[in-house]
Amino acid sequence: MAIISPSILSADFVNLERDMKLLKETGAPWAHVDVMDGIFVPNITIGIPVVAALRKCTDLVLDVHLMIDRPVRYVEDFVKAGADYVTIHVEADQPQNTLEALDKIHAMGAKTGIVLKPRTPVEAAIPYLEKCDMILVMTVEPGFGGQSFMADMMPKVSQLKEWMQDINPDCLIEVDGGVDLNTAPVCKEAGAQVLVSGSAYFKAADKPGFVRQLQAE
Ligand code: DX5
Ligand code: ZN
Repeated sequence: MAIISPSILSADFVNLERDMKLLKETGAPWAHVDVMDGIFVPNITIGIPVVAALRKCTDLVLDVHLMIDRPVRYVEDFVKAGADYVTIHVEADQPQNTLEALDKIHAMGAKTGIVLKPRTPVEAAIPYLEKCDMILVMTVEPGFGGQSFMADMMPKVSQLKEWMQDINPDCLIEVDGGVDLNTAPVCKEAGAQVLVSGSAYFKAADKPGFVRQLQAE
């Protein structure tokens, strides 16, 4: 069964506590938190105090996606704030700093992940495979919700799945961007186990039904 991680980028920021409860009530086990710094991506969203506030009002798994430059500077703060998973972009720093960031996340007791932008080749993940609990394949350009799903990212998902069977079989593969009732089956077919969905989840009239359908094999 796939894990659904609704992106709260499409939530009502005036009512985040209400929307976190909505996620829980509609059967989503995770909440995806998009952190953007205005440098790594052309948008600014949520920061450390908001993650801490979310932690106070939910027991859902907090899946924190850092779209920030040189994340090694902040990963420990996000774990302290209550992140369960902290995922960082391979494009955001030098490899040695990325490795250091992954070690810091683990040392703080949280789960690690790396993220690949659409134009980043899957081989860019190779140095990090053993240190990752999850790998996130972006299916849109990071920065904004509501964009169209890029089906041509699916070969990356399948390749990672294949590599991970030997190297690190417990590592999850996550997809993020444009995931809805039509595109989720394509993701699952390619081997994705965690599906992020922002606008489609929040627009769904029947959210429990939406979650059930995305979860289904
Ligand atoms: C984009 C974010 C996504 C976004 C997904 O940079 O990483 O998590 O919220 O939104 P939808 O599902 O609307 O594409
Ligand atoms: Zn995201």
